[in-house]
Amino acid sequence: MNTLTVELGARSYPILIGAGLLTQASLLEQHIRRRDVLLVSNTTVAPLYAAGLIAGLPSRRVVEAVLPDGEAHKTLANVARLMDVLVANRFNRDCTLVALGGGVVGDMGGFAAACYQRGVDFVQIPTTLLAQVDSSVGGKTGVNHPGGKNLIGAFHQPVAVLADTETLRTLPDRELRAGLAEVIKYGLIRDAEFFAWLEANIEKLLARDAGALAHAIRRSCEVKAEIVARDEREQGERALLNLGHTFGHAIESATGYTQWLHGEAVGAGMLMAASFSRECGLISSEEPERLRRLLERAGLPTSVPGISSTQMLEHMSIDKKVQAGRVRFVLLKGIGASFVSADYPDAALQRALAAHLG
Ligand SMILES: NC(=O)c1ccc[n+]([C@@H]2O[C@H](COP(=O)([O-])OP(=O)(O)OC[C@H]3O[C@@H](n4cnc5c(N)ncnc54)[C@H](O)[C@@H]3O)[C@@H](O)[C@H]2O)c1
Ligand SMILES: [Zn+2]
Repeated sequence: MNTLTVELGARSYPILIGAGLLTQASLLEQHIRRRDVLLVSNTTVAPLYAAGLIAGLPSRRVVEAVLPDGEAHKTLANVARLMDVLVANRFNRDCTLVALGGGVVGDMGGFAAACYQRGVDFVQIPTTLLAQVDSSVGGKTGVNHPGGKNLIGAFHQPVAVLADTETLRTLPDRELRAGLAEVIKYGLIRDAEFFAWLEANIEKLLARDAGALAHAIRRSCEVKAEIVARDEREQGERALLNLGHTFGHAIESATGYTQWLHGEAVGAGMLMAASFSRECGLISSEEPERLRRLLERAGLPTSVPGISSTQMLEHMSIDKKVQAGRVRFVLLKGIGASFVSADYPDAALQRALAAHLG
């Protein structure tokens, strides 16, 4: 088992990574303060892993809340349902909410924990690769609004994150690949050596080799934890984690959130960001080419059919990263070296978009 700590003073917490963590009941139990536990999951994940988890907590009162599966259900109404369950069972401030599932369950469970009695303990048990490397770490929680994604939320750090790589065995291939896009992101923004490791080990990751997965998850969480520790509330450096996301969000929203998984859109978005960096004269064509090859080997899309530059620009200008009327982008000075900038020639952005749309 690998353990690392997100250093946030009194709110520091461990991330445990390894195969079979869910069968070691004490790992979860030691992070549950008192008797009452609300286990939040969904209709896909609960049948696979909830019973085993509950069996490991015989001395606790575990109430289950099983939500419908899917991004469309990441709503305030479902958080209200969780509140109803907490109140109906007379849960107090000393209860613990455990989120078992992907990012949707984690974001909703975390938000319910942030709100109930102004904040109760919360444990993340992420079961998708994306959740294990990204959404379960860093304390962003929330839900969607019909007017936009993640518009309602709170910062609420978990007391622990348990990432059991065994749970990835049941994850659909397409979800695994989408998670790999976020893993590749960490190499690009901060760690050239990790990027090269991914180039050498991508097939092992696709084959769900437990050792390779554990390494990739650990390194990803280390990078995210370091950045979050320095900039918990995204005043500066945390924005680097949005590499490829301004483009990616535009792809997702231009296609109505129906065709692209988030990680897929981020993969194509990172390639656009790399091309944009080259058009700005920051890197040569070698870096975008390396990225394109890695994304292709990971089975991720590298071109974006059916969307025009005008549509992309429109969707990007309503993204959250706009400051003083200019969209800020995460750009690359090299693989493993990223920075945020609003200072770029618009023609370079146009050329980068044109290269990947069609
Ligand atoms: N809080 C953050 O910092 C942060 C960061 C990134 C993404 N997010 C959010 O995360 C969400 C996306 O998360 P996601 O990609 O995990 O999607 P998801 O939660 O929808 O999970 C993807 C699918 O896999 C299923 N699934 C989960 N674990 C499984 C398993 N072990 N075996 C079989 N099926 C399994 C789910 O039921 C779902 O159908 C988005 O809502 C996004 O906004 C949050
Ligand atoms: Zn993302």
